[in-house]
Amino acid sequence: MALQAASLVPVSFSIPKEGKCNVSLRDTTLFGLSLSDTLKADFSSSALRCKKEIQQKLGTVRAQTAATTTPAVKKAAPEGKKTLRKGSVVVTGASSGLGLAAAKALAETGKWHVIMACRDFLKTERAAKSAGIAKENYTIMHLDLASLDSVRQFVDNFRQSGRPLDVLVCNAAVYLPTAREPTFTAEGFELSVGTNHLGHFLLSRLLLEDLNKSDYPSKRMIIVGSITGNTNTLAGNVPPKANLGDLRGLAGGLNGLNSSSMIDGGDFDGAKAYKDSKVCNMLTMQEFHRRYHEETGITFASLYPGCIATTGLFREHIPLFRLLFPPFQKYITKGFVSEDEAGQRLAQVVSDPSLTKSGVYWSWNKNSASFENQLSQEASDESKARKVWELSEKLVGLA
Ligand SMILES: NC(=O)c1ccc[n+]([C@@H]2O[C@H](COP(=O)([O-])OP(=O)(O)OC[C@H]3O[C@@H](n4cnc5c(N)ncnc54)[C@H](OP(=O)(O)O)[C@@H]3O)[C@@H](O)[C@H]2O)c1
Repeated sequence: MALQAASLVPVSFSIPKEGKCNVSLRDTTLFGLSLSDTLKADFSSSALRCKKEIQQKLGTVRAQTAATTTPAVKKAAPEGKKTLRKGSVVVTGASSGLGLAAAKALAETGKWHVIMACRDFLKTERAAKSAGIAKENYTIMHLDLASLDSVRQFVDNFRQSGRPLDVLVCNAAVYLPTAREPTFTAEGFELSVGTNHLGHFLLSRLLLEDLNKSDYPSKRMIIVGSITGNTNTLAGNVPPKANLGDLRGLAGGLNGLNSSSMIDGGDFDGAKAYKDSKVCNMLTMQEFHRRYHEETGITFASLYPGCIATTGLFREHIPLFRLLFPPFQKYITKGFVSEDEAGQRLAQVVSDPSLTKSGVYWSWNKNSASFENQLSQEASDESKARKVWELSEKLVGLA
């Protein structure tokens, strides 16, 4: 039986007839590989040949009455107002991998206070300590994206803290490529889309108001995307391909009872659910841009950080895959990006003065220089973005 595995490879590569590897890193991309139980078939294929302050007021997590509407966004803070205070950035999923590396990179500049929004407080505290993040540069706040109540409690808790919000980074994700049956969030949404998209959708919608109140010179909302959701790439074309279809599953609530657990209404596939969730992330970023950039001046961006083959994202994968994936990316595809490097890239999108353009999907080339990448047709479909937005609003109780 074939298992679905996601991996990153350079977008630009060729498979010479002689079978000699000729990989060119013009930019990087995520490549989904179909591994057989033995991995033998795929690893002998032509393609393979060639190719991461304790919460200041811990304890008082108040149950917030569920907000049912997003407060209207008021006019943006006056432009041009400079401030020398530290930036305040919320990073979801900062307990490991990309999120942790970005938190570290930002904290080390001394210019940012990172609110590590995580579901496991102790794990995050240990991770921050072992990464050497100075205590005065971070705060841990509880957030479980697989529970809409938790998202609302986080927003309430964050507001109680009195900190400003200058940048929001929606980074956390789950990836369940080997799951045979769907699992569900507290509200009964399929877990991958429920966590990666719906949890972040509610969080970002609620925090838009807070972001808009900031007087920081450059306010940003960043959603981590993935090449796996982009079918305009080689990687995005490896089955199961991302495809939101006519959104009938999303419209039905993704509950696997009276509707499919998949956005397109099809049978459950954990790898596809992840890719679909990433398409939703990228569509959401663009819809935010279209609806709010002009009015608020907030920069809305997404990014593909490269193949970070060592992160916990692949924890649900078979052991052999986890063993072979990093060296495969390092030595065969040369698409490997270290957690530190990926963290620097995300930190760049948070703070680099040259990356203020809104509505952009950022990627990096072989020289690790950022460039504006093209999204797939579906990931840039305006009508689909609007429909995903409207359906998601209903599911999270905002409409
Ligand atoms: N690794 C790659 O090659 C790659 C490539 C492209 C894009 N990305 C994207 O990069 C982002 C970070 O992934 P990663 O590779 O760094 O994986 P990772 O190390 O597994 O990090 C995922 C983070 O998400 C958190 N998380 C999962 N479920 C959550 C929930 N219900 N509530 C709150 N937090 C939750 C995890 O928390 P716990 O520690 O508690 O589990 C962890 O901190 C994801 O958006 C992923 O799609 C990764």
